Amino acid sequence: MKASSTGHSSAQAGSDGQADGAVVIALEIWVRPRDELVSHPGGRVAAQLSAIWVKPVSVDADLLVDRDVERDRLVRWVTEAIELGEHDARFLITGDRGVGKSILCRWCLSEVEKRESEAVGVVVDGRGRSYRDFLTAIALAVVERLSDDVGETAPLRRYLDELALLASHRQVKKSQADALATKFGAQGGAETKGLFITLRALFSWEQTRTTSHGAEISTTVTDELLHRAISEVFIQIKAAGRFLVLLLDDLDQGTASSADGVNRMVGEILRLRPCLALVHLRNEAMFQDVRREITQTLEVPPLPDAVLVELLARRATQAMQRTGTLGRLDVKNAYDPFRALARAAGGNPYVFLRWAEQLLSAFDFPPPPDWVNDASLWTLVRASAPGADEDLVRPVARLVDRCALAPNRPWCRREDLDRGGLATDTAPLTPVPKTTLDQLVVLEYLIRRNRFDDPPVYRLDPVLDLLRPSVARLLRSS
Ligand SMILES: Nc1ncnc2c1ncn2[C@@H]1O[C@H](COP(=O)(O)OP(=O)(O)OP(=O)(O)O)[C@@H](O)[C@H]1O
Ligand SMILES: [Mg+2]
Repeated sequence: MKASSTGHSSAQAGSDGQADGAVVIALEIWVRPRDELVSHPGGRVAAQLSAIWVKPVSVDADLLVDRDVERDRLVRWVTEAIELGEHDARFLITGDRGVGKSILCRWCLSEVEKRESEAVGVVVDGRGRSYRDFLTAIALAVVERLSDDVGETAPLRRYLDELALLASHRQVKKSQADALATKFGAQGGAETKGLFITLRALFSWEQTRTTSHGAEISTTVTDELLHRAISEVFIQIKAAGRFLVLLLDDLDQGTASSADGVNRMVGEILRLRPCLALVHLRNEAMFQDVRREITQTLEVPPLPDAVLVELLARRATQAMQRTGTLGRLDVKNAYDPFRALARAAGGNPYVFLRWAEQLLSAFDFPPPPDWVNDASLWTLVRASAPGADEDLVRPVARLVDRCALAPNRPWCRREDLDRGGLATDTAPLTPVPKTTLDQLVVLEYLIRRNRFDDPPVYRLDPVLDLLRPSVARLLRSS
């Protein structure tokens, strides 16, 4: 494994002779305020990395570790498109949940912007959005991204201002459109067109109210109109010699209530052109039509165990930089528990960070030597799921191991969970009652892979995974 690129985190362990093998990592960590520092037997200062810095919520590109191959490939695809003058291409990024697609794409987008001055990077997340919300978010993100770059008199400015108006209203008044026309008529000259002129056939101005000042004329901004307006702005961005690079993250995680609805939304969003789009779909199997439109696909694989620990070191370094607090954890002692977690996490950084967060919030650090025994693992789990009933969760954790469709990827079909094992299992476990399984789904202890899977497929919440016998075995193996 390569040494970390952060100045602090590579050489220290090696020079102390504390880290073994090829892994050269120093965990430099945020310590508690000085008055809380505790002296350990042997005179060592116990420093504690706050669990909050480990929480896997941030996709801040500065936290990215490793991924050299994927970074190079994705950046090359996009920069080559730009250098060849290609304004329209779609790159699909796939991989397990939590494997690091979003953080990788964000890093690549900012790298492309550094390398290519004409690139305009915009990120929009589809999670929890309706089709209309998503259109609005794209429009406003593009306007915001370009607003400082585009001068007041540039032809593109009028398009951006008019897009902002359309995206922010369901109903636009003629007086609002006229005010923009006057502004740009005065500043930009007659040749400065805009959306209201270019798309005039799509506007149906109607008298909607009578006010004391006279009749109010307005038009409805339909989804179709907003879609056309965004596409028109994309065309103008191209005409201005800029390359729009759009990251459509979790494009299929919107609020559409049926698989058909999601398909339609994904299809419509991908019709917004021209742009270079990095597209992330959680369940690309659902989108065969989309596949045909994809220029290149990048599969993001699991990470090696050692990289998972390095990822924690990067967070520790960032914590230190942000808080200005200095401290250093004894590398060897710090490293062992995290290495054990990394070994069992199946290369998934999200799962690993959730576990590291649990470890840091459930115990002082370093944790007691017996932190991997059954009782301690239950303590870890309970810190995140205080209401969890051990007698309920343990049998389900065993069941998930038995029904897993693949080792390290513990997804299980509902029918197997109901049966107590795979159809081929000659000695299935005593089944857990269906109502109990339903209850665990409601509590989100069992998480559905995709709300449109039929039959449904589930996995345990990653923290509860710590109770799976296969995970406990890996944690204990030296
Ligand atoms: N290579 C990495 N370096 C540093 N942190 C990483 C890396 N990969 C993932 N992470 C961290 O792991 C967590 C999950 O990553 P991310 O959100 O990018 O995954 P994802 O594949 O997009 O997940 P989802 O399928 O849920 O959208 C984030 O907190 C992220 O910062
Ligand atoms: Mg993501």
